[in-house]
Amino acid sequence: MKEIINSLVVNRNLPEKDMKMLLTCDSSADAYLYEQAQKVRQQYYGNDIYIRGLIEMSNYCKNNCYYCGIRAGNQEVSRYRLSAEEILSCCGQGYQLGFRTFVLQGGEDMYYTDAIMVDIISAIRSKYPDCAITLSLGERSYETYKAYFDAGADRYLLRHETADFYHYSQLHPDTLSAENRQRCLYDLKRIGYQVGTGFMVGSPYQTPEHLVKDLNFIARLQPQMVGIGPFIPHHQTPFADFPQGSVALTLRLIAILRLMLPAVLLPATTALGTLDPQGREKGILAGANVIMPNLSPVSVRKKYQIYDHKICTGEEAAECRFCLQKRIESIGYQIVVDRGDAKQYTKNQM
Ligand code: SAM
Ligand code: FES
Repeated sequence: MKEIINSLVVNRNLPEKDMKMLLTCDSSADAYLYEQAQKVRQQYYGNDIYIRGLIEMSNYCKNNCYYCGIRAGNQEVSRYRLSAEEILSCCGQGYQLGFRTFVLQGGEDMYYTDAIMVDIISAIRSKYPDCAITLSLGERSYETYKAYFDAGADRYLLRHETADFYHYSQLHPDTLSAENRQRCLYDLKRIGYQVGTGFMVGSPYQTPEHLVKDLNFIARLQPQMVGIGPFIPHHQTPFADFPQGSVALTLRLIAILRLMLPAVLLPATTALGTLDPQGREKGILAGANVIMPNLSPVSVRKKYQIYDHKICTGEEAAECRFCLQKRIESIGYQIVVDRGDAKQYTKNQM
C-alpha cells in the first residue's frame, strides 16, 4: 500500500483501481498515509489552523433531502430565521473572539430575497472589511450568486453530495438533480468565488465506486475547499434507520484529499466530532486545517439539528472558541487570527 500512497503523493491522483484499493484496504497503512498528508499540509500551512465562525441563519428549507433533519417535510422542527441585526451581532461577537471569516449557512429559505441577502452581505462587508464572507445557502441562479458576490461575498460552500447521478437520485427527491448542483458549482467558480464542495462519507447506498467518482469530480473541479463528514442518521428522516458513516474512512479520505489538492482548505467537521470525541483532532492529524465553531445564538442552536446528537449546541460562542483552542494546542497546532484564504489562489483562475 505504501507504493500506492507514494504514487498519490507524486501524481496527485491514482488510477481508479488503486484508489479503490486505498479506500478499502485495512488500517495498516493509515499512519503512513496521515504522515504524508501532514507533511504536505505543513508545507502550505505550517501548524496554522484557520477558524470560521458558523452562523446558522435559518432552518427553514424548501427541500426534502432524505438525509437531512431540517428538510421541509419534517413537521417536528421548530423553525427560526435570524434577522439582519441578529446576524450582524453574531459577527460582532465573532470578531471580538478572533474570527476573520463568517459563514452564513442555512436551508433554502426563500424569505431571504436577493435584495434582503444583498443588504445583509453589504452590511457585513462594510463593517468588517478585513473579514471573508462565506455563504452556504444551497442552489441558486447564476444571477443570484453574482449579486451576492458583487455585494461582497468571497466564498461559497455547496457540497456536490455525490457525483454519481443515480446515487444522487437515491438521496434526494426528483425536484433536485446532481446536474443542477454541479451547474451551480461551475457558475460559482466562473463568477470568481473561492468554491467549496464535498460529500457525506457513508451516506445510504454509497459504494467505494461512488467515492472514486467523488474524488474524480473534485479533481476536475479543483475547488479551494472540500468539506466531508460522516453521514449521521436523523430520527425524523426517511434515512433514520441507516447506519452512520465511518470515522476511520472519513479520516482516510481527508488524507487522500490533502494529497490530491495540497493547498485545499479542509475542515475537520462537527459531524466528525459528533461521532468521536477526538474526531476533530484526528481530522487535523489526518491533514485537515480548518475548524468551524458555531457562532449562532445559543437560543437557536438546538433547532439546527441536521443529524442526531450534534455537539456544541449548548455552549456560548466564546466557550466553543476556547475549548477548540485548547484541543488544537493539545495536538501541537495553533489557531490563527486570519481570513485564512487558500494558498496560491488567484481570482478568475478558470
Ligand atoms: N442548504 C445548504 C446546502 O444545501 O448546501 C446548506 C445546509 S445543508 C444542511 C449542509 C450540509 O449538511 C449538506 O451539504 C449535507 O452534506 C450535510 N448534512 C445534511 N444532513 C446530514 C446528515 N444527516 N449527516 C451528515 N451530514 C449531513
Ligand atoms: Fe435543505 Fe437540508 S433539506 S438544508
